[in-house]
Amino acid sequence: VTAPTREAFRPAMHYASKDTWLNDPNGLIYYEGNYHLYYQNNPFGNVWGNMSWGHATSTNLITWTEQPVAIACDEYEDIFSGSVVYDQHNTSGLGDGTAAPLVAIYTSAYKENSQHAGIQAQSLAWSTDGGYTWSKYHGNPVLNRNSANFRDPKVFRYNGPAGAYWVMVAVEALDFTVVMYRSDDLKSWDYLSSFGPANATGGVWECPDLFPLPLDGNEDLIRWVLTVNLNPGGPNGGSAGQYFVGDFDGVTFRSETTVTEGDQDPARLTEYHWLDWGRDYYAAVSFSNVPDGCRLMMAWKNNWQYGNDIPTSPWRSPMSLVREVSLVTSEGTPHLTQQAVIDPTALTRTVAYTELDVDGIRSVAGGGAVQLIEVTFVPGSADEFGLVIRGNGNEGTRIGIRPGDGRLLVDRTVSGNTAFHSAFSSIDTAPLRAVDGAYSMRIFVDHCSVEIFAQDGEVTLTELIFPDPSSTGVSLYTTGGTAKVTSLRLTTLA
Ligand code: FRU
Repeated sequence: VTAPTREAFRPAMHYASKDTWLNDPNGLIYYEGNYHLYYQNNPFGNVWGNMSWGHATSTNLITWTEQPVAIACDEYEDIFSGSVVYDQHNTSGLGDGTAAPLVAIYTSAYKENSQHAGIQAQSLAWSTDGGYTWSKYHGNPVLNRNSANFRDPKVFRYNGPAGAYWVMVAVEALDFTVVMYRSDDLKSWDYLSSFGPANATGGVWECPDLFPLPLDGNEDLIRWVLTVNLNPGGPNGGSAGQYFVGDFDGVTFRSETTVTEGDQDPARLTEYHWLDWGRDYYAAVSFSNVPDGCRLMMAWKNNWQYGNDIPTSPWRSPMSLVREVSLVTSEGTPHLTQQAVIDPTALTRTVAYTELDVDGIRSVAGGGAVQLIEVTFVPGSADEFGLVIRGNGNEGTRIGIRPGDGRLLVDRTVSGNTAFHSAFSSIDTAPLRAVDGAYSMRIFVDHCSVEIFAQDGEVTLTELIFPDPSSTGVSLYTTGGTAKVTSLRLTTLA
């Protein structure tokens, strides 16, 4: 009897499907004790195509159970991205008299033999068994602008001064515009307003979201956050997500963070508010119906530049960790901060260090292929300091801080297999400033990724890597002088 071998790169603390392709998370919802993750899925292969909604469930947001395909493509339509709401009062009438329905609002991408060929319009499906089986609504599509690029509806219940109703945010992708509609029954929709183009417009706008958050924890200071993914045009190339902070009065979103042409600060013209600065955090969207008003987000951990070619099999593409987002004022502007939703006690075998001086390269015990690294650096004379993770002497991923430039960098040029696509190998950067003279990072390492939450989640940077399974070393390094590590904890998943 031979022990089953582990599939190369299959993540330990992230979702990936068993043997198929996936992209965007869809229909994220908490319902009756389960988190439901639907997702763009090719049920018949491991590259993009035959788009349907795959499905997985979790109670802890770390381990997931794959479920049967939830909403399948057919001869007339592909099922593109969208959202799910709990229609508690059966406003849609799609409930069955005993159970209030979950209602999915998805994009019908109509095929050649449909009467709507070439059009993208919004459609409904409903479930009365808690999200496991779905029926398409006979009156689809419910919202049609006769547009070829109208997609990715995110629906939420608005309840404010203007009244109580459903709001949909979706995109006219090629116009860099978010369009907003309202409805009382999810079936008939009235136009409210549009937002954009604004800030980053280097690629089509996709997968928007709109939600309220208290600023600095103050429930009297509610701000609305509009997130917009775009492809390409991200800060380090390809797919990424930006966000705007402002106000939504039930009709119109007004941004406080839009950079205008007349803005004199050159840094602000490129350094928009990014959800993540890495190459592999796309189509981020939030969960609905989460208790206690928590705002949880998840993204596809890949990039359209090379997504179909990443060297995994038979599955392709992991999801990100789930993040709780909150809004804080920093340098006079509201910013999102993000924390990974993971219980560190689920990880085991902690190795902790205090007060390490680093001058050159210094390896530390406690490495691993799946781990959480928590580190705080105080700069010395070095122009750059940081860590090399998933190392073996020949390969490794460098996570560095250059205090003089105010930048965080991730160098994956020698991280392992980079040859599968010419756009993959890269050194990617994000702005990072010291807080009280120090730099802290929480770094989640898995079999094929690294997710960095720097300065208490103010800056995040997510990247795929494909190292040799035996590359598990961790070292500290400096270049051109010294730095001090005031604390370092490595917690390894057994
Ligand atoms: C984003 C996206 C969406 C679309 C889906 C199709 O990655 O292009 O705009 O709905 O993927 O799979």
